Amino acid sequence: RAPLTLPALRAMKAAGEPVVMVTAYDHPSALAAEHAQADVVLVGDSGAMTVLGYDSTVPATTDEMLMLTRATRRGLRTPVLVADLPFGSYEVSDEQAVATAMRFVKEGGAHAVKLERGEPTSVARAAAIVAAGIPVMGHIGLTPQTATALGGYRAQGRTGADAAKIVDQAVALQDAGCFAIVLECIPSPVTEAVMERMDRAVVIGIGAGPATDGQVLVFHDLLGIREGKGAKFVKRYADLQDAMDAGVAAYAADVRSRTYPAPEHEYGMPEDQVAALRE
Ligand code: KIV
Ligand code: NA
Repeated sequence: RAPLTLPALRAMKAAGEPVVMVTAYDHPSALAAEHAQADVVLVGDSGAMTVLGYDSTVPATTDEMLMLTRATRRGLRTPVLVADLPFGSYEVSDEQAVATAMRFVKEGGAHAVKLERGEPTSVARAAAIVAAGIPVMGHIGLTPQTATALGGYRAQGRTGADAAKIVDQAVALQDAGCFAIVLECIPSPVTEAVMERMDRAVVIGIGAGPATDGQVLVFHDLLGIREGKGAKFVKRYADLQDAMDAGVAAYAADVRSRTYPAPEHEYGMPEDQVAALRE
């Protein structure tokens, strides 16, 4: 199929065709997304946790995220590639935000960038990046970069006032020119209220119910590459951590019992050469 474009995503929204988005951080995860014909691939700063081992997304640096973005880029042909701007790489000024976004496009091969929060500063940064010619995806509701201030990794917008704030932020991001907005971990009625106002932005949900234009999940969550259970909204489609643990444990047992390598894994040599070796 042909590579996707932003007008193609808008046409999917208009046609009511679900948009499939998934995260990827390296070449094999990118290939899995490509093979599944995902429409949008996000190099999420969730990679700080899923592949880099930090205990939150906060420590991720631009250079770390760029390396993950380049590895993902090499595995993709058709999806729209969005890169997360890590915490601290866009908040200081419009100039900082545009410069960081430009690196993800020029060095990382991203088509678009995503930034968190919908208060006036983030809206202004989004508008500045759009004005520089780089498409922007917003992200509101649970925003992990500021999870501590939000009371941890928990659903947002559960009171009328908080819900109204989320609707206002979505509208502000759409008006700032965001081509898409992620809604994370909010009650479905809040999502429905947002959707009534979203005539242009493609809305992607994660823990936001079924009303959005599309859905996103973290690669490692949906494939069970993690310890523990994860959030309520995650649906697990495989148990790859268990499969990886079992595979490496079987290999270790084979080495310890000298079952591996077996004859079929060995290289031979002509008899006369063996004889020459022994002289
Ligand atoms: O970093 C990430 O994976 C994300 C998605 C969950 C939207 O921001
Ligand atoms: Na993120």
